Amino acid sequence: MNICTAKIATKGAKGQLVEESGSCTQETIRHPNVRQKNRSSKKVSASKLKLPVVSLFSGCGGLDLGFVGGFEFLGKHYEKTQFDIVWANEINSAACRTYRKNIGDHIVEGDIWEALPNAPESADVVLGGFPCQDISVNGKGAGVDGKRSGLYRAMVEAVSRIRPKVFVAENVKGLLMKHNEKSLSRVLADFRALGYGVSYRLYHAADYGVPQTRERVFIVGTRPDVPAFVHPEPVCGNHISAKAAIGDLERLDVDEDFNHIWSLANKSAEQGNRKLIAERPGYTIRAECHGNIQFHYSLPRRISMREAARFQSFPDNFIFDAKLRETERQVGNAVPPVLAWHIAKAVEAVLKGGAA
Ligand SMILES: C[S@@+](CC[C@H](N)C(=O)[O-])C[C@H]1O[C@@H](n2cnc3c(N)ncnc32)[C@H](O)[C@@H]1O
Repeated sequence: MNICTAKIATKGAKGQLVEESGSCTQETIRHPNVRQKNRSSKKVSASKLKLPVVSLFSGCGGLDLGFVGGFEFLGKHYEKTQFDIVWANEINSAACRTYRKNIGDHIVEGDIWEALPNAPESADVVLGGFPCQDISVNGKGAGVDGKRSGLYRAMVEAVSRIRPKVFVAENVKGLLMKHNEKSLSRVLADFRALGYGVSYRLYHAADYGVPQTRERVFIVGTRPDVPAFVHPEPVCGNHISAKAAIGDLERLDVDEDFNHIWSLANKSAEQGNRKLIAERPGYTIRAECHGNIQFHYSLPRRISMREAARFQSFPDNFIFDAKLRETERQVGNAVPPVLAWHIAKAVEAVLKGGAA
């Protein structure tokens, strides 16, 4: 039994997520009262932030929220960083709506190749989780030659024009697999050809306080006049369980305003392997679920979009402005904000000339 489960069983759902000495100790989880939480479309204030960031392929804003910080998740506060997203781009209208509601009006809707000429001429950081369908183990294997993953070239172009001090690219674990060897080499070579020092690491989101077994690759490049990036070490030895992440939502009825809605398909044999285990972190939340829909560990239904958002470490006041299918896509596509926050703090440290 992990620490999360044992302590919840003895103390109930009051308490606090404490992170100290390089480990994530769950004394107990304190969830905000979901009925009293702030559901306003509060935007992240940029007024005190000083390091301008350009964000590509921004989706609903998971990576961007983590970069600016200033949010709560499972009783822990993730402080504001010095970053200020000054320009963002996304082609999907529904994702842009969610982004505007929660992050800011600076997002430009449209194709990146059309939007890029109007991007700022300079910024300290360029972010981009370029589309991964052609690289994913679930895709058709076209790699970076595929129409969608080939969009990484737009990020290379953005880095080439803007010359940020640091860029951060995110992609699926499949990029590190043997069949994508050439794709990875090409991506790294294209960024290195711009003079950047480039490193990459596979991150396990649960190691950083995200209640999910999600693995993603982060490629980080630093300009020659900037110290090399130091990838942040794991902070959470005891992974947060599914019960700890969503247990307080078990008795909550459908609530559209809170994205607590779920698909009504019945559990079938093909879907059985996706039933959550209460004592373990959730499985990877995917944008295209198809046959791999996650079922609740104790309730006879799929997980709700709010529960999926919890597994992705979105705060409860982050409201997805879309119907079920689009919300599923936005949540599944996102970088978990808590993981992004740890990476942002490491980038911030590099820009200040040291390690986090
Ligand atoms: C992996 S998701 C990024 C998720 C985002 N980083 C987050 O944390 O929420 C990739 C995004 O690229 C967008 N996209 C795909 N093709 C695009 C294009 N040609 N121009 C702009 N955005 C595009 C998709 O709609 C999708 O939202």
